[in-house]
Amino acid sequence: MSRDQSQCRVQAAVVDFHAEASNEKMAFAHSFDGQASLIVGTHTHCPSADHQVLPGGTAFQSDLGMCGDYDSVIGMLKEPATIRFWRKMPGERLAPAEGVATLCGVFVETEDATGLAKRIAPLRQGGRWVRPGGQGQPLRSLVLIRQPVRCPVRFRPAAGVRIPDSASPDR
Ligand SMILES: [Fe+2]
Repeated sequence: MSRDQSQCRVQAAVVDFHAEASNEKMAFAHSFDGQASLIVGTHTHCPSADHQVLPGGTAFQSDLGMCGDYDSVIGMLKEPATIRFWRKMPGERLAPAEGVATLCGVFVETEDATGLAKRIAPLRQGGRWVRPGGQGQPLRSLVLIRQPVRCPVRFRPAAGVRIPDSASPDR
């Protein structure tokens, strides 16, 4: 991405930074603040809550999240994805979870003259993410509908370790 905007003929510029580390994505966004309408991260599959318009006018969110079934392990069926971690060995090939999907994205309003962002709001629709007040309400805050999730493997803490109820995987 060039720091020279003199040749720019587009109305808006969007940068998708596909990476794991939020600090890396944030550092990149600050480095190019004012030169893109939106710099947004992808890859973690987990929507972050740090959406903002940076001081130079670039909208930023370190990760958009995924479009898919959130009753999953980043979109994959829970059981095989979870057992891999408990056994510390590769198991069966992971398959996508096929429950009700949530659409995750971001809404950005830009200034026509400059292409810079005026505001940014997360967009999360359907599935396990809903907007308070129904479909007609503005995108101010979001609520995750919590449902109990059961771990398929019985969790056994090491001898002498007491796990508080709030940290139990059966919560
Ligand atoms: Fe990825």
